[in-house]
Amino acid sequence: MMKNKLCSYELHFFCYLLLAPLVFSHNHGNPANDIVDIINKNRTDRKLPSLNDSPGLGCMALQYVESCKGNCSDNNVVNCKFLDDDFTEVFAPNCGVELPTFGTITGHIVGCQRKYLEPSLAFSQVLVMDKNSLSLLSNKSYTEVGVGFVGVHKGPFFWCVLFSDGRSNSTFVLENRGAGIEQKKGCYSGSSTPCSGVQKNNVVFFNIFSMCYVFILLFTLL
Ligand SMILES: *[C@@H]1O[C@H](CO)[C@@H](O)[C@H](O)[C@H]1NC(C)=O
Ligand SMILES: *[C@@H]1O[C@H](CO)[C@@H](O)[C@H](O)[C@H]1NC(C)=O
Ligand SMILES: *[C@@H]1O[C@H](CO)[C@@H](O)[C@H](O)[C@H]1NC(C)=O
Ligand SMILES: *[C@@H]1O[C@H](CO)[C@@H](O)[C@H](O)[C@H]1NC(C)=O
Repeated sequence: MMKNKLCSYELHFFCYLLLAPLVFSHNHGNPANDIVDIINKNRTDRKLPSLNDSPGLGCMALQYVESCKGNCSDNNVVNCKFLDDDFTEVFAPNCGVELPTFGTITGHIVGCQRKYLEPSLAFSQVLVMDKNSLSLLSNKSYTEVGVGFVGVHKGPFFWCVLFSDGRSNSTFVLENRGAGIEQKKGCYSGSSTPCSGVQKNNVVFFNIFSMCYVFILLFTLL
């Protein structure tokens, strides 16, 4: 009897061990990268050239929405005003974009939403939902794109897409051999760093949950 019980606990424990990496791998996503993929899929499906994923642009897109935080209206409109100089004087230095490589930002789309949306829904319901943003998405002269995303567990969540017509990938180069300056919040496309904020909370929650689980197991075994 006792032996059977022990067996079933061991089974539980092994299930948990098997499950843990699955849950963790899900939390290592970067929705900003997903949005770049969706943008490029949408363009190539329409025979438009795919856009180069620029981490420098992505990081500045993150800086943009980071500065807009708290300015999402009740009907999900971002109310932010910036000077053109903010890009070169604030966002670029905060990201570590090498100033001589600063290109031209030819278009931007920004949106917010009270609740978290999966990347495909964020694309269709927040970012590209009017003629103006659709024409930006379809511009043939663009060559580069960068996406930034930020949001805390309760929202609102902010997305920003920046476009450029810079030649190849010699524009918006990040210092420190492309690593740039580490960002504390949110995530951006072209970066290997997973999103912090939303995802991190899930990981913390999962850790607490799994520790409780292990303790309960140990106690019932004793
Ligand atoms: C956000 O809104 C506040 C209050 O309306 C305003 O003072 C502030 O300038 C806005 N922030 C930006 C970046 O536009
Ligand atoms: C595409 O973007 C370029 C650069 O911003 C602009 O001059 C041009 O008018 C745009 N083309 C269309 C079709 O919107
Ligand atoms: C591209 O995205 C727009 C906006 O969501 C959508 O209306 C259109 O059907 C998409 N095109 C393709 C080929 O996926
Ligand atoms: C970007 O740079 C990488 C390495 O420096 C190179 O392999 C790649 O072809 C470049 N992409 C474009 C579009 O120029």
